[in-house]
Amino acid sequence: MERVVDLQIDDIAFGGKGVGRAEGKAVFVPFTVEGERVAARITREKKNFAEAEVVRLEESSPERVEPQCPYFGRCGGCAYQHMSYRHQLHWKTQQVAQALQRIGKFREPPLQSIVPSPLAYGYRNRITVHVEEGVVGFFRRDVHRLIDVERCPISADAVNEELAALRARRPRDGHYTLRARSGPRIFSQTNDAVAEKLAERIASLIPPEQSLLIDAYCGAGFFAKRLLGKFARTVGLDWDIHAIAAAEAHAAANETYFAGDLAARLEAELTRADLSLTTVIVDPPATGLGADVRKILRALPPTTLLYVSCNPPTLARDLAEVGAGFTLRSVTPFDMFPQTAEIEALAHLSAIR
Ligand SMILES: C[S@@+](CC[C@H](N)C(=O)[O-])C[C@H]1O[C@@H](n2cnc3c(N)ncnc32)[C@H](O)[C@@H]1O
Repeated sequence: MERVVDLQIDDIAFGGKGVGRAEGKAVFVPFTVEGERVAARITREKKNFAEAEVVRLEESSPERVEPQCPYFGRCGGCAYQHMSYRHQLHWKTQQVAQALQRIGKFREPPLQSIVPSPLAYGYRNRITVHVEEGVVGFFRRDVHRLIDVERCPISADAVNEELAALRARRPRDGHYTLRARSGPRIFSQTNDAVAEKLAERIASLIPPEQSLLIDAYCGAGFFAKRLLGKFARTVGLDWDIHAIAAAEAHAAANETYFAGDLAARLEAELTRADLSLTTVIVDPPATGLGADVRKILRALPPTTLLYVSCNPPTLARDLAEVGAGFTLRSVTPFDMFPQTAEIEALAHLSAIR
């Protein structure tokens, strides 16, 4: 039987859903803003929480804005187009703080102001679209079906031109990564302007006269290549042989890259390094650091550890686990993915000696 409840939204959870309470139970409602009152239909009920969809907006927030995308609400890509950009930044900051407090058990995490994206739309330099039986687009939010997408407003014009060209050639079923610039099929940063700001911030946090940089999970060496001048030697580690081949092309004399088992190589490098002159950057996938990598960083702490994360909960877990030998100096969120629920953050740690 359909159940509709009246809710007052008072929080925005990681992932972007508004949170209200009905009969003492948390109810998650997408596309709402705190302070709003909504009538919402319960779509899923569990012991400790429920999920619901807005039926009627009874009282709207001043932070509510008109989404720029006709697919918003149906497409699985964006979570925040209904919220002013300034307010998105506020909530992403809160969500990083909450992860550090609840999961990392940091009572007062040293959180810095979030670095906004110069472009709130039109920033993505690559997208992956899917094709099934003539439908070209993204997966829907609610069911595992494709939604036909003609244009993606968070993507750069050059990406949308690629999308138009792909649609015009009636592609076969499959997955297609469309890029603003052509390049190898390896990981690359998605928002150029914010990625540059992140690299600049990292450069500013490296102490003077360091001898060794280990760029772990380096991809094609995005960070290492921007920091060569600061180190006598830089080592990049990644398991993707194509990324490592791209990093090695045009490598300078003081750059070395290794494809393969990251933990073994990291341990070997740290064992023979002068740790007081060593900086390590880690930029792992959303799953965070492997348990073996956490163990090595605990046992052999470099003087500076810079952790680039795309997932606050795993960042918080890893900082709590690696943290004992380090002081957590700062955590800075970067809004690499406006309108979406994704959050990038940089943590700066210094070894306690
Ligand atoms: C978030 S990307 C970062 C890439 C790079 N730092 C950049 O800015 O372009 C994560 C990288 O980690 C690599 N990776 C993921 N798990 C790994 C593992 N267990 N060992 C080695 N590399 C791994 C992936 O191939 C990918 O290049």
